[in-house]
Formats: sequence, C-alpha cells, structure tokens
Amino acid sequence: MAEREEGFGISTASPSTALPVATEVASDGGYTAGPVLVATDVVVSYGGVHAVDRVSISVARGEIVGVIGPNGAGKSSFLGALGGQVKRSGGDISLLGKDISSMLPHQRARLGLARTFQTTSEFAKMTVFENLITSGEGNAGASLKEVVLHPRKTAQRERAMTDRAWEILQRFEMEHTVNLYGRELSGGQRRLVEIMRCLMRDPAVLLLDEPMVGVAPHLTGKLIEDLRAIRRDGLGIVIVEHALEVVRQLCDRVVVMAFGKVIAQGSFEEVVQDASVQAAYLS
Ligand SMILES: Nc1ncnc2c1ncn2[C@@H]1O[C@H](COP(=O)(O)OP(=O)(O)OP(=O)(O)O)[C@@H](O)[C@H]1O
Ligand SMILES: [Mg+2]
Repeated sequence: MAEREEGFGISTASPSTALPVATEVASDGGYTAGPVLVATDVVVSYGGVHAVDRVSISVARGEIVGVIGPNGAGKSSFLGALGGQVKRSGGDISLLGKDISSMLPHQRARLGLARTFQTTSEFAKMTVFENLITSGEGNAGASLKEVVLHPRKTAQRERAMTDRAWEILQRFEMEHTVNLYGRELSGGQRRLVEIMRCLMRDPAVLLLDEPMVGVAPHLTGKLIEDLRAIRRDGLGIVIVEHALEVVRQLCDRVVVMAFGKVIAQGSFEEVVQDASVQAAYLS
C-alpha cells in the first residue's frame, strides 16, 4: 500500500520537483515499484487558448485514476496528449521511466501505452477475432517475404497471437462473439472488444475516454468488474468518465479538471464534497 501511495503525485503545482522518480524496468522483466505513467505540467493549446494548462498526473501500477470535470474542461485533450494523438505544447510525459513526450502514438503504444477509440469502420467490418489478431503486437499481417524467409517464425508468432486472443476472449466470457462482426455487437460488447484489443499488446497503461458511453445500464456493472480484473493484473488505468457512479465504484483516486486546470484531487468522496468542484459543475 505504501508502495502505491508513493506514486500519488497529482497537482497543477509547478514543475517536476514534487513528482516521484520514474519507474525502472527490473532485470527480470517485471517493473520496480513506482508510477508507470508520469505527466508533468502538460499544456495543450488550440490557437493560443490553453485547453490543458499545466496538468500533472502520476499513475501507479494497479491504480485506476478517474479524470472528471464539466464539458470542455480539457479531459479528452489531456488524454490525447498522453496518448500522443493531440499535440502537446508544453510539459513532459514518461512511461515506465522513459521519456515519451515527443514520440508518435504508435511508438508510445509499442512501449506499453494503450488507448481506446471510438469504433472505426474497420472494426465494424471485421470479426471480433480479426479485430483482436490485427491489434496484436507487430501484426499487420505477415508479409509474403517474411512467410517465405521465416516460415516457422511467422507460424509461431501467429500461433502465439491466436492463443492470446482466445485467452482474452475466455477471460471476458466473449467466446460466443468470436465470429461476429463489429457491427453486430451491442454497445457494451463493442466497448469490451476495444479494451480487449488494447490488451492484446499487453500494455502497462490503459487510457479510456468515456468507456461507458453506449453501454446499456444493466451491463455497466459487468464492465466495471472487467476493468477491476484488468487492474488486478497490475495495469495503470486513466479513465475519463462523466458517470459519477461509475467513477465512485471504480476509481482509487479522482482528478477534477475545469477550464484546463486541476481544481481538486483525492478520493471520490473528498472531491465531490469540495466546494470548488461543486461550483464548477454548477457553473
Ligand atoms: N481540435 C480542437 N480545436 C480547437 N479547440 C478544441 C479542439 N478540441 C477541443 N477543443 C476545445 O478545447 C476545450 C477542451 O475540450 P475537450 O474535448 O478536451 O474537453 P472535455 O473535458 O473532454 O469535454 P467533454 O466532457 O465535453 O468531452 C473545449 O473548449 C473545446 O471546445
Ligand atoms: Mg471529452
């Protein structure tokens, strides 16, 4: 517990001094204690207007951090800056101790940062199984050259990818959807497949932007349980979510943003009682 608390440094306070030292990858391939993701003073500006204004966050292994706040607070822009999809105009981001601030999204993904997106057309046109396989590491489909030159290696890799897909399908009790196309899934199933696609790459950190949108109310409990199970694997999760009941049930810690800044942080109970948070939601 003490180990996790060391990583709890969220603030808009200036620079990096208060933030913990970034995580090192241990020689056994596991990770040493400490945060998996650290962002310091991140700024995103659109045409000179700061949508994210010096936001800092630190996420530990196995921790779920909720980011909440009124519409337009800058939550998605912040998540985009973490994932690399949105240009950051200031600040630093490190993943497992490595500075990823200037990396492209796919480079960050390769290092262990996964992010869910809105459903794409490719997603809808592929079966669940194809969706999982194509999101696996280094798998854009083996080239003819690879197959000819390294047939055994290619076969082994495909086998490993297939095994991993089945393992994930079983874990989330989604085997029955394996041959269904993305477009045939319910909203909740689609959300789950998006998360399962991320897990194919065995990430260290998962970024989720409003994962409960489109999920039928009676299925949100199942998705919450699934996210808890993922957290038990040691992943750090950052979740932007409007549904406060979901945040209450899921998040170890909550960061509240308004007008691009962090206005409060703490447990769910602490932040909802905060006068500035109540004012931000009412304004
Ligand atoms: N691509 C963009 N170009 C210009 N302004 C943008 C862009 N994306 C977002 N903004 C603006 O930046 C601010 C923050 O937007 P953002 O989408 O990050 O907020 P949010 O907290 O995710 O809101 P919501 O809860 O509605 O999803 C808003 O004022 C928004 O209008
Ligand atoms: Mg948003």
